[in-house]
Amino acid sequence: KEMKLWGGRFEQSVTATVEKFSESVSFDKTLYKHDIMGSIAHASMLAAQGLMTAADRDMIIKGLKEIERQIDSGDFLWRTDREDVHMNIEAALTDVIGEPAKKLHTARSRNDQVVTDLRLWCRDAIDTILLSIKHLQVALVRLALKNEGLIVPGYTHLQRAQPVLLQHLLLAYVEQLERDAGRYLDCQERLNFSPLGACALAGTGLPIDRFMTAKALGFTAPMRNSIDAVADRDFVLEFLSANSITAVHLSRLGEEWVLWASEEFGFLTPSDSVSTGSSIMPQKKNPDPMELVRGKSARVIGSLATLLVLCKGLPHAYNRDLQEDKEPLFDSVNTIIGMLEVTAEFAQNISFNHDRIQSALPAGHLDATTLADYLVKKGLAFRTSHEIVGKSVAVCLTKGCQLLELNLDELRSINPVFEDDVYDYLGVDNSVKKFCSYGSTGAACVAEQLDFWVAKLNLK
Ligand code: ARG
Repeated sequence: KEMKLWGGRFEQSVTATVEKFSESVSFDKTLYKHDIMGSIAHASMLAAQGLMTAADRDMIIKGLKEIERQIDSGDFLWRTDREDVHMNIEAALTDVIGEPAKKLHTARSRNDQVVTDLRLWCRDAIDTILLSIKHLQVALVRLALKNEGLIVPGYTHLQRAQPVLLQHLLLAYVEQLERDAGRYLDCQERLNFSPLGACALAGTGLPIDRFMTAKALGFTAPMRNSIDAVADRDFVLEFLSANSITAVHLSRLGEEWVLWASEEFGFLTPSDSVSTGSSIMPQKKNPDPMELVRGKSARVIGSLATLLVLCKGLPHAYNRDLQEDKEPLFDSVNTIIGMLEVTAEFAQNISFNHDRIQSALPAGHLDATTLADYLVKKGLAFRTSHEIVGKSVAVCLTKGCQLLELNLDELRSINPVFEDDVYDYLGVDNSVKKFCSYGSTGAACVAEQLDFWVAKLNLK
């Protein structure tokens, strides 16, 4: 049996049970590229500071690159008896280059090493997520461009409320995603500080240069406090919070599209390529991908909860508990990327059923609020006009008709203020045309918003 890298004071080796329970290489091997990057920066700094020779540095860097090549090509043997990604790579480096490898861990602990790797990994993961967000925004804007002029019922309390342009609704999702992207950027900026050189928790008495490694790794600066550097995982919490908020946005969109794909709504049809069938009911065609987007938001939120609970009771500084930060982080990131990708693909493969939507528009008196605005323009107080329109709706309900089907006499018998021009305000088409406030669903406002996004996303 190989002696552990930390084995000096030990007389017995760990039991198989403990080894299996405490290893992390099975999942933290995901960090290998960032671990190697960190080690190269560290070795270069040690040589520059006279803590190792240039020849040793060169052998270490060459060896690390060889190991990276082996891992890339699947030729590397990961060993659970070497515990984690850090000791697997360091021990393998000793296998490859011998003695000089033993200098690499000078003025470094796995405590600062792991959190350096993790910050670098998160920084890259955020870049990937930002790209996926942009792809989804593009898909949604393209969908909007394809459906110009389509009016859909807008809902509050899931009850018919006011008519809106479908484009307006699609752009609402795009706005939400833009704020999600902003949260990731904030998180990325805040996490981009280097813990390397904090060592176990107290720093070191050796003459290292933390500014040099920070710069080499693209960090803004070294973290000021070595205890903080190894102890905190607030950047993971922040990242998982950003993932959770994005997941909630996607889940709401998923819920909406699942509803809209139902027979009851019938507003959209996903293509067969993004639908699945039932193993028993031959007629079924289900919008599974969006149901799973809704479902997978649960695990993203769960990962955040796991990390919060993981951290809440930990005394400073490093505790082995922190090893448990990785699986929820990796799972959350993989899941959110999958959710973003599948939602974009779904958006590329749905069509809105214009006829069905059109035939659904007369129900629900979507133009009632526009009618109330009409009366305000005639000089009535809004509360008064609200009541008059309410009475008009009541007449419609008794007669089983729409507001635009009431003739002028009927309207005037409710209130004499109605004139012929009222018919310019009734019906969803007229109603939508009346919206003109900034950010509203009026055609001109929506066209402006659409232009904004087309330019921002470099479409056309
Ligand atoms: N695998 C460990 C982790 O993920 C690395 C740090 C271990 N440090 C230690 N002193 N045991 O946190």
